[in-house]
Amino acid sequence: MTADNRGAFASKLGVIMASAGSAVGLGNIWRFPTEVGRNGGAAFILVYLCFVFLLAMPVMISEFVIGRGSKANTVGAFRQLAPGKPWIVAGFMGVIGGILVLSYYSVVAGWTIFYTQESLTTALWADQDFGALFQGFVSHPWKPLLFQFLFILLTHLIVARGIERGIERFSKLMMPALLAILVFLMLFSLTMPGASRGVHYLLKPDFSKVTTGVVLSAMGQAFFSLSVGLGTLATYASYFRKETRLVQSAFSVCVIDSIVAILSGFIIFPAVFSVGNVAPDAGPGLVFITLPQVFKTAFEGLPILGYGFSLMFYVLLLLAALTSSISMHEISTAFVIENYHLPRRRAAWIVTLVCLVLGTACCLSFGPWAGIKIWDRNFFDLFDFLVAKFLMPLGGIMITMFVEWYLNRKFVVAQLTNNGTIRVRCLGLLLFLVRWVAPIGVGIVFLNEMAN
Ligand code: PFF
Repeated sequence: MTADNRGAFASKLGVIMASAGSAVGLGNIWRFPTEVGRNGGAAFILVYLCFVFLLAMPVMISEFVIGRGSKANTVGAFRQLAPGKPWIVAGFMGVIGGILVLSYYSVVAGWTIFYTQESLTTALWADQDFGALFQGFVSHPWKPLLFQFLFILLTHLIVARGIERGIERFSKLMMPALLAILVFLMLFSLTMPGASRGVHYLLKPDFSKVTTGVVLSAMGQAFFSLSVGLGTLATYASYFRKETRLVQSAFSVCVIDSIVAILSGFIIFPAVFSVGNVAPDAGPGLVFITLPQVFKTAFEGLPILGYGFSLMFYVLLLLAALTSSISMHEISTAFVIENYHLPRRRAAWIVTLVCLVLGTACCLSFGPWAGIKIWDRNFFDLFDFLVAKFLMPLGGIMITMFVEWYLNRKFVVAQLTNNGTIRVRCLGLLLFLVRWVAPIGVGIVFLNEMAN
């Protein structure tokens, strides 16, 4: 397939919506509040924001340079830009990482479909113990698998339709819808009685809470949330046009992603504090156990509002998950299409089938296969560890080093300035971040993680 007929995003808005769609996902709405709750609130958010702009954004810009500069899938990109050199390993890490991340991400995404269904049928409101409901569902031998498969198949359908008709169109429709639902939910949450304690929790930093652990978590969260390190955004950038402004697009994606994460905090914590009897550090169950409890208590007298609120929330989570999962799928699909010269539909099926198999192992980790452990972790935790703690940071280091230390400086500047046709503010600072700050910063955190 030649560089010209491999598909492209048709518009500037499409580029931003698709890339922001990849970034905005369960990482923002499910993982971010969990991490904020666990790591003490406002101080964590500040550290997180520093990492987004100082470490993760330079990696994103580097991915954009590699992708648009080669117009190829991640493996093809390294093969083309550094023929015969070992950098290609970073490309393969991305293809493997994309499959691994989709395999476990789809488990949680499947839960969101189940909770959407439960809200829709109002079953979520029958007088029940939400902890038991969650445990009972996730450990069921086949039910969660069904929802996970449904999610993977939805992802498949969008990816199989291609770049412009599938990924771009879906992201362009969904992202504004998502933002609208978020703002609506936040306004609602902020008007609940006692919500101000949640606002205080999010805005008043207590720096005594910033420990090494908090710093490590903030970086992991920044990488995961921005989808950097696996070549997801390099793959998307290979569909950018020559007029696309790389730095501006990366900055917009980082801003949108941070806004969504913070909005999610402003939905969840005011509601949690308002209800009062649930702890903000409830962990991963926050969104699936605590929130239904919050919805129920908050709308005791007006259950119809409660149904609407929870339905909207889980639909939001599902849509956000889909715009991210298509980007994970696309890393490997683009590789299969271009490496094995297969039509898109067939390539997409191959990736989907692999994810269904690996995804099954992750899903069953909460039920019948809970006892199967590798390095002391079940499949779900193992895949999460391999992706978030290993492949993403290592990929981030390799990608920034490749761009700043291996690639020709003229080529990089030509990509960033669209062959000198646009002016990029703070170009020197940016290149400094890519050359020194990102690889060293990520390296320190990575080594620290490995030592633990
Ligand atoms: N950034 C996504 C989220 O916040 O949910 C997750 C993600 C997408 C991770 C794509 C990795 C990836 F390649």
